[in-house]
Amino acid sequence: MSGALLEARDIAVAFGEGAHRRVNVLDCASISVHRGECVGLVGHSGSGKSTLARILVGLQAPLRGEVRWRGSPIRPGDKSLGRELQFVFQNPTAALNPRMANWELVSEAAALLTDVRDRRGRMFLAKAMFRQVALPADALRRYPHALSVGQRQRLALARALAVRPQALILDEPTASLDLSVQAQILDQLLAFNLAGGTIVLVSHDEAVVRHLCTRVLKLNNQRIEEA
Ligand SMILES: Nc1ncnc2c1ncn2[C@@H]1O[C@H](COP(=O)(O)OP(=O)(O)OP(=O)(O)O)[C@@H](O)[C@H]1O
Ligand SMILES: [Mg+2]
Repeated sequence: MSGALLEARDIAVAFGEGAHRRVNVLDCASISVHRGECVGLVGHSGSGKSTLARILVGLQAPLRGEVRWRGSPIRPGDKSLGRELQFVFQNPTAALNPRMANWELVSEAAALLTDVRDRRGRMFLAKAMFRQVALPADALRRYPHALSVGQRQRLALARALAVRPQALILDEPTASLDLSVQAQILDQLLAFNLAGGTIVLVSHDEAVVRHLCTRVLKLNNQRIEEA
């Protein structure tokens, strides 16, 4: 293997049953991400970006191909992987337990995966993370259903950052944000990257990708090409 931090080789994915309904989304798609890179992943709607992102973090098994994290095949459900690699969904609502207050949600992954455990520590962390992603402090004790889509997206990002992972995979993290908030989020992502964190950023927004990414890949015809 190549010494990449995260690597996917010859990934194939198809949805549907039977010869006629079968849709090949990815075929022989390969990607290799090195430590400290910020790689942009672009491609038209439906080209398979979110599918590839889920495969890269082990949430979905490919039909063919293999994903390696630090040279070893990833095992879905491996808790230690979550400590190192965090994923923010394109639609974060499904990943946010509606019965947990926002401050609990933001510190939940960190509490499970790191040594931040007690209530005071979790609240302290949640407050700091809320500031980082420009969420108002009065939303700490509210619930995710009372947030806007863009606020929920930032809540999910704050939760991922709170774990202090080595790498972040972000699926359209700025899609619902106005420009000033978007700028603050991009600053946070840049700071994460400059501190050594690795990013794979899925985005439709060319300006965002050009601003942040050191390399841009494009999903086209079920494969990944240098853009
Ligand atoms: N669970 C599923 N069952 C059937 N088809 C699916 C499923 N998930 C995705 N697809 C199909 O796979 C293709 C790729 O979807 P994916 O969500 O990965 O695209 P995308 O590039 O992320 O699009 P967008 O830019 O709109 O988010 C689409 O044609 C989609 O309809
Ligand atoms: Mg998508």
